[in-house]
Amino acid sequence: DERTFVMVKPDGVQRGLIGEIVGRLEDKGLKMVGGKFMQIDEALAHEHYGEHEDKPFFEGLVEFITSGPVFAMVWEGADATRQVRQMMGATDAKEAAPGTIRGDLGNDLGHNVIHGSDHEDEGANEREIALFFDEDELVDWDADAATWVYEDAGDH
Ligand code: GTP
Ligand code: MG
Repeated sequence: DERTFVMVKPDGVQRGLIGEIVGRLEDKGLKMVGGKFMQIDEALAHEHYGEHEDKPFFEGLVEFITSGPVFAMVWEGADATRQVRQMMGATDAKEAAPGTIRGDLGNDLGHNVIHGSDHEDEGANEREIALFFDEDELVDWDADAATWVYEDAGDH
């Protein structure tokens, strides 16, 4: 099954939203296969947000993402990358639809509580997982509930 990288950003951690965000992904039927509470340093921030290096907001973005702890995770499920992006909602939380994580929990473009790999950027999920996790930090396990989440549960 597909794996994707997800992170509760420093604003989400400070506001005590880890449980809410994890709960939403669990409720959807996605399966967590890795998670760690950590502080992102300057170098990792630059690598993670490398695609935005030339943008005017880059410096502020790096400052924000290194400003406090984050909860980094890997989630698995059918079409997981696109699924999570859909649940996250629009980048600018002010514009994100109600019912989405950003739409319900955020109010700002810069402080938008969650990151998820971009499904339109081929391989971004695998790159970001490798950037944040060693292979032995990921757990392969069978979620018994998958039988009830997916009609074709055999390969979940
Ligand atoms: P991420 O999951 O954080 O990557 O969000 P995204 O994929 O929805 O957006 P994108 O990768 O385009 O931008 C990365 C982050 O930079 C966003 O989450 C915003 O917090 C921030 N950002 C994007 N565009 C702007 C902008 O125009 N101004 C400012 N201040 N921040 C921006
Ligand atoms: Mg992005």
